[in-house]
Amino acid sequence: MSESLRAVPVAKDVWWVGAIDWGLADFHGYATGRGTTYNAYLVVDEKIALIDTVKAPFADEMLARIASVVPPGDIDYIISNHSEMDHSGALPHAVEVIKPEKVFASAMGQKTLFEHFGSGIEVTPVNDNETLPLGSRRLRFIETRLLHWPESMMDILLPEGILFSQDGFGLHLASGARFADELDADVLHYEGAKYFANILLPYSPVVLKLLERVRTEGLEFSMIAPDHGPVWRRDVGTMPARYATWAAQRPTAKVVITYETMWQSTAAMAGAIADGAAAESVNVEVLPLSVRHRSDVMTELLCAGALVVGSPTMFNHMHPAVADFLTYASGLRPKNLVGAAFGSYGWSGEGARDIQKQLVDMKLGVLGEPVVCRYVPNAETLARSRELGTLVAKRVRERSEVAAIGDAAGA
Ligand code: FEO
Repeated sequence: MSESLRAVPVAKDVWWVGAIDWGLADFHGYATGRGTTYNAYLVVDEKIALIDTVKAPFADEMLARIASVVPPGDIDYIISNHSEMDHSGALPHAVEVIKPEKVFASAMGQKTLFEHFGSGIEVTPVNDNETLPLGSRRLRFIETRLLHWPESMMDILLPEGILFSQDGFGLHLASGARFADELDADVLHYEGAKYFANILLPYSPVVLKLLERVRTEGLEFSMIAPDHGPVWRRDVGTMPARYATWAAQRPTAKVVITYETMWQSTAAMAGAIADGAAAESVNVEVLPLSVRHRSDVMTELLCAGALVVGSPTMFNHMHPAVADFLTYASGLRPKNLVGAAFGSYGWSGEGARDIQKQLVDMKLGVLGEPVVCRYVPNAETLARSRELGTLVAKRVRERSEVAAIGDAAGA
């Protein structure tokens, strides 16, 4: 174990003992160009608890940080809030080294950890709202099923009110800084949105339910300590407020256009659509899939009003880059969007029709028939593309105005 790796105090007798993955570029299909952290926390009281672990290759880094505070063998409890392997991969090794009195997880977590690691780890299930005394303090477990796995839970350290929120309120960002107030606010906003759009979006109703529970039960947090990215010790309401907005998925006056092109025909149509939309004074983002990652497109789509997708026809299908994006996007289940399809073709023309079908399957409010062109767009095709942009822009503006009136009425 490295002597140079130190734990970082995040509160009195609470330590960050996680790992920094500076080189992570891809998190199962989500581009993580700024790397990430796997956060684990040590709570030192009469009983010592380790909350979550790290990805397997970082087990020794975590144990070295723990050893800078207490001998790892002194840990009494390990809490597994989330079984996904970026937080449980090091658990078998940690259990072997630490030999804890107990490992706790939700009832579903007990089952999931068994399915990952077999019978070598004995897990004690805990229920929603159950508390674990540590001495002068206690941990209260909050079940957060499907946020974002069926076994997920969070814990609140009482009486301080420190929320250990596993993936919730997290973001992928490797940094030497451990606290959000030490980092660039715009980067945190973007990476938080990207995390939500690419991990949590399908579970938006569960997010809203959790926020409602926090409100109705009057839960107050002095700090939010997620499993990725920085700890929030100031402006603790920042991420919950953003989650309320992102999970609501209210339509805005923003049009996202994404496409792939072979000989610039579909690209020219995309430009004309963008031009038509921009003339209606809505926000327009054009993201060619040749240069923009699918996860960046999803980030732009968070808080948008329309998704317009274009593809040439290639081997009687849409272009594979567009199929890739739509497969990914449909799994993330964005809501409240207007949709439209467009694209060029040579002789068979399935590309834009494939897109149209998928947008309908995604339950987007699809506008009319796809705008298509044979081989190269002429002036008439570009005019129809521009008209599509105008139509989409007018529709998203109307819908965003209706949503704003609804918000004002509900305020
Ligand atoms: Fe960070 Fe769902 O794992």
